[in-house]
Amino acid sequence: KEEDASPLWEAYELAARYYHHLLMNTEQGKEAYDYLLNRGVTVEQMETFRLGYAPNQPRMLKELLEKREFDIEEMVDGGLLFRRESSWDIYDRFRHRIMFPIHNAKGKVKAFGGRSLGEQEPKYLNSPETSIFLKHESLYGIHLARGPIRKKNQAVLFEGYADVIAASGAGVTNGIAALGTALSERQVQWIRRNTDQVLLCYDGDEAGQKAAWKAGALFEKEKVNVQVALLPDKVDPDDYIRKHGSEKFKKDILNSSVSITSFKMKYLRKNKNLNNEGDKLAYVETVIKEIVKLPGAVEQDIYLRQLAEEFSLSLDALNEEKERLARTRQ
Ligand code: GTP
Ligand code: MN
Ligand code: MN
Ligand code: MN
Ligand code: MN
Repeated sequence: KEEDASPLWEAYELAARYYHHLLMNTEQGKEAYDYLLNRGVTVEQMETFRLGYAPNQPRMLKELLEKREFDIEEMVDGGLLFRRESSWDIYDRFRHRIMFPIHNAKGKVKAFGGRSLGEQEPKYLNSPETSIFLKHESLYGIHLARGPIRKKNQAVLFEGYADVIAASGAGVTNGIAALGTALSERQVQWIRRNTDQVLLCYDGDEAGQKAAWKAGALFEKEKVNVQVALLPDKVDPDDYIRKHGSEKFKKDILNSSVSITSFKMKYLRKNKNLNNEGDKLAYVETVIKEIVKLPGAVEQDIYLRQLAEEFSLSLDALNEEKERLARTRQ
């Protein structure tokens, strides 16, 4: 539960303002600013998402927090500062990183994701969990997307911060992302309270497909209608938009999304060599098991026909198999 009275709220707000100022207005922030421009992030997007830059110096934020008379121990516990185990020295946690403030639904900053500018590991450093920040109940971008999600009655779920920002530039204002961890039930419940339709737009690599599969299952459990947008292998939404532009992204990716069942059929198929009879049978069986779970008879029929056509099987045989599996499910 987020504690309203915590001094961390004020400290995070101060840090966000400070990092944003450094990015937008200073020589120190120029490398980060140019990096973002190079990645296609516009000044307007930097403002909307309040992006920032944490300088490449050990104690800039610490000094600011001291000057404003924050309790430094509290700031260490709160994740803005960091104490090396081997010494008593206290440093800024984030150095030489692009800062993505993570807001609560009301728009208050409660954490940061910090992306390294170069090749330093980790690529993203997030705030630790604190009294005001629980990862599994946070979603990146919800303060901006909540209104649009309700209005459009759909949430678009991405993997990365950069995808949410790039998509917003393409007019996708209902986009949110989990914080680099698997989607949690709490996050699903938050989404469910705001809409019953989700479009999954994960990265087009194996990890992204796996994550989409798992997320899809969580949404289905909550009776949320799930569509899946399919990206080319090794391309994420941000890459795609940069390479092909907003219009093509909307037309060929978002508006060409498929049902979760079609996605599962494609996914299962990709990992099997279906020239082999045994694999083919196993595939057909697995797909029918998915079809049996569908609530509507018409929906079931559509996918059965698709399956029959794909493998030149008789619809009657597939229907019989479906009935058999439906019975064993009771
Ligand atoms: P860019 O390389 O900046 O385009 O980032 P990306 O969002 O495409 O990264 P990726 O697809 O690798 O990861 C998706 C999300 O997972 C990121 O937005 C982060 O939230 C999270 N993530 C990625 N790398 C790390 C990491 O090293 N540590 C942590 N904690 N989270 C990460
Ligand atoms: Mn500004
Ligand atoms: Mn990825
Ligand atoms: Mn990615
Ligand atoms: Mn990316």
